[in-house]
Amino acid sequence: MSVRALDDLLAEGVSGRRVLVRADLNVPLDKQSGSIADDGRIRAVLPTLTALRDAGARVVVCSHLGRPKGSPDPQYSLAPVAARLGELLGADVRFATDTVGESAGAAVDALGDGDVALLENLRFNAGETSKDAAERGAFADQLAALAEAYVDDAFGAVHRKHASVYDVPARLPHVAGRLVLREVEVLSKLTGEPERPYVVVLGGSKVSDKLAVIEALLPKVDKLLIGGGMCFTFLKAQGHEVGTSLLEKEMIATCRDLLDRAEGRIMLPVDVVAAAAFAPDAGHDTVAADAIPANRLGLDIGPRSVAAFAEVIGSARTLFWNGPMGVFEMPAFAAGTRGVAEAITKVDGFTVVGGGDSAAAVRALGLDESSFGHISTGGGASLEYLEGKTLPGIAALEN
Ligand code: 3PG
Ligand code: MG
Repeated sequence: MSVRALDDLLAEGVSGRRVLVRADLNVPLDKQSGSIADDGRIRAVLPTLTALRDAGARVVVCSHLGRPKGSPDPQYSLAPVAARLGELLGADVRFATDTVGESAGAAVDALGDGDVALLENLRFNAGETSKDAAERGAFADQLAALAEAYVDDAFGAVHRKHASVYDVPARLPHVAGRLVLREVEVLSKLTGEPERPYVVVLGGSKVSDKLAVIEALLPKVDKLLIGGGMCFTFLKAQGHEVGTSLLEKEMIATCRDLLDRAEGRIMLPVDVVAAAAFAPDAGHDTVAADAIPANRLGLDIGPRSVAAFAEVIGSARTLFWNGPMGVFEMPAFAAGTRGVAEAITKVDGFTVVGGGDSAAAVRALGLDESSFGHISTGGGASLEYLEGKTLPGIAALEN
């Protein structure tokens, strides 16, 4: 990656200049209370914001949250994030109740040197995610008008061809922030010549979401461990019945082909926790992976699988993990994710946790973040990076 870095911008002097920072403050919110369930992504952008403040910049932060449909939707307001960001910075964060309108203009005008404002959710504007370049461009013009320079520190969103990620850097002097630089530096170690054994652990619900990364990683890894909802389509491809577990019928043939080509390098669970319903208090038993009852659905990998996975994980010198092994938000189905995560903390080598969900799981399960080599803030972004795809947000910085 050959891009200009935040330090280059700081060296030019930013005192008194308005700097637009695209951050990924798309944090998980507690469904009941609406409060921030995990503030990891907010903390991850603090080094960039602090460096800009210390240099006297007038910092205008923007982000998306969730997937609102191009117009204001209060459940996706960034207001709680502004409050948390203020606490973490130990400074007032001025919150604009719109993204590029009157409130945004006023918030930016009121900034003194070293002050910070946060704009309302980018995705309250149809132009942000539009596939139409002109519509995106019109919104990017409005965003760019708020500042004199642009910093991309939203690693979790660099795989999106969105106005704030892709079109704004074409309109302003642009640099990569500290988080983006660090993420790319770490992930590039996995795409180069990783020390072997190189083990990848994938979970999450859908094979279709992970197909490209499985294809890309298969020739490179020594072992690919698969858990989470997506393991059932693989088990089905092996000829097992999976009851009412998550199943992508149209992917069964693809999974069979992957298993053939993997020549034993793909490892699946040997037992699963099968429940009567998708509910925290559902009755459940551990059953062999080839004996899931017709009226049950698998919600976690079982203890024999955890032990088998842990043994392979323990042998790794390089390890990448994306996606929970089960429904870890429900305590009855968290043991698989916890067991795998704990095994990863003991690896004598380089470990990377990728993905908003896996990173949140690490913290929700009370594991020590410092026992992982790197916890990426990017979910889709880290996977697409590993696939070797051109990421629009990075490409835009390179121009
Ligand atoms: C993420 O959570 O993966 C990023 O914030 C990107 O969000 P998106 O998948 O809604 O584009
Ligand atoms: Mg996502």
